[in-house]
Amino acid sequence: MRWTKNEFQGVGMQLIIPLFEGITKAPNNSLNGLSRIQRSLVKAAIISDDFEGKKRQRLSVWTTDCRVLLVGLGKKDEISHKQIRNTGARIIGVLSKKKGTDVTVRFTSGMSIDNMLNFAEGMMLRDYRFDLHQKIDEDECLEPWDIEFQASERYQEKLEKGLKDLESIVGGVHLARDLGNEPANVLYPMEFARRAIEWASNKENVRVEVYDWDKLQELKMGGLINVGKGSDRKPCMVLFTLNPDADRDVQRPCIVGKGITFDTGGISIKPTSGMWDMKYDMCGAATVFGLMESLWASGYNRRVNGITCLAENMPGSGAYRPGDIISTYSGKTVEIYSTDAEGRNVLADGLWKAGEFDPEYIIDLATLTGAVVVALGNQITGMWSNSNSLQLKLKKAANIEGEAVWRMPLNAQFEKYMTDSAFADVRNGSAGGRAGSSNSAAAFLKQFVPNRNFDEIGEQIPWLHLDIAGTAWGPGGKAKSESVNPLFQFGVSGVHVRTLYRMIKDN
Ligand code: BES
Ligand code: MN
Ligand code: ZN
Repeated sequence: MRWTKNEFQGVGMQLIIPLFEGITKAPNNSLNGLSRIQRSLVKAAIISDDFEGKKRQRLSVWTTDCRVLLVGLGKKDEISHKQIRNTGARIIGVLSKKKGTDVTVRFTSGMSIDNMLNFAEGMMLRDYRFDLHQKIDEDECLEPWDIEFQASERYQEKLEKGLKDLESIVGGVHLARDLGNEPANVLYPMEFARRAIEWASNKENVRVEVYDWDKLQELKMGGLINVGKGSDRKPCMVLFTLNPDADRDVQRPCIVGKGITFDTGGISIKPTSGMWDMKYDMCGAATVFGLMESLWASGYNRRVNGITCLAENMPGSGAYRPGDIISTYSGKTVEIYSTDAEGRNVLADGLWKAGEFDPEYIIDLATLTGAVVVALGNQITGMWSNSNSLQLKLKKAANIEGEAVWRMPLNAQFEKYMTDSAFADVRNGSAGGRAGSSNSAAAFLKQFVPNRNFDEIGEQIPWLHLDIAGTAWGPGGKAKSESVNPLFQFGVSGVHVRTLYRMIKDN
């Protein structure tokens, strides 16, 4: 999408006018630049019973040279961030490029700058496709949208700045979607690493470091090694640092992502049904990469660390097995109950590594458990944390961005389930079986969050875990027509790039 901003001058081939419920006449300036005949048609439509400005209501008015689309926003005092963002997204979903790619969006009286930017954000988020691997219909228009956002003079400065920031943020969301949507034969661990290196190559203030197979052995990162060794595509850890020279000796955030480029389950192999969507099992890592892009593109100048743990979980002859006792980067041993509980094994190394940056806090994202989908569905992420204040900050940012999270329990019972192995320090399957298995997965991760300065006794670093198994992609994802969340049509959502961007920037 290309965008510009302006006052109420000139109209494109399509004119979008968002309106609150109860408006009885065309707002000031809403019809600037239209001819007398066009104006009278639109005025009549606004007054008519066919359009009341209710939520989800739309009325399209055909006039020569310009299609005008009236868009209902609902009651002004009931409008939410989420609703207005979704309304903007749905507009991109219904507009046809064949009717003209130059579009004017007119924000008239009654709309706050927040309303305007949320509407624009929805449009930008939805303007995404992933068509690298398919033939594009000949009659499809590939021109990008050319959108002019118009508002009165007093909003111009804020609109310009706000739209620029949105462009940076949405670019990162779209990058996360691209990575997630790539199939596993294209995007395997070292290919993710290659893309990260390429991304960093023309940027002065970012550093990307890759721990390849040999380096993993040297560092004894047994979580990654064991999960990845059943595949010909070797595992790796990719470390991102934005602004490495800033904030020396200042504690800063570190974000860790699960990056299983394909999860067959390994020797504990998954059934055929549904296995295809395990190409999305690297969405945690995709969010970390996307977040780095969003922060970088917006000119953020403080230090942020990111760690992605990449492996392909395959049942090759070199694969790890149930019953194996593996040694992780932390030095703690893990008894393997299921090779399909692989996400926690790779994150064990990532979380321990995070401690070396002496971070202000650690947040991990992972498509960790099927059980969280059963518990919370596809629109709410499960959240676990050892810190009340960190949890509150994240929740606040997530709510503003419309990426809902719900706090789940981290308690002694679940920790016990994961630590009373007869043979190792930690077990990767719960002694409680399937009961509360998203909670026991979180309790496993907690065993690998270091204390400050790695002191044996002392405070654990503030840590928060997001299980995005349900929210990282839609309930469907197989067909272009399946959509539930208007911000993306199908496939990967890019969830929590925006939440983390806001949380990091606001604190
Ligand atoms: N990647 C899966 C979790 C998953 C399942 C994500 C369905 C999205 C949709 C994870 O690695 C896994 O297999 N988890 C197991 C854990 C179990 C073996 C303790 C699960 O959820 O069954
Ligand atoms: Mn698995
Ligand atoms: Zn997995």
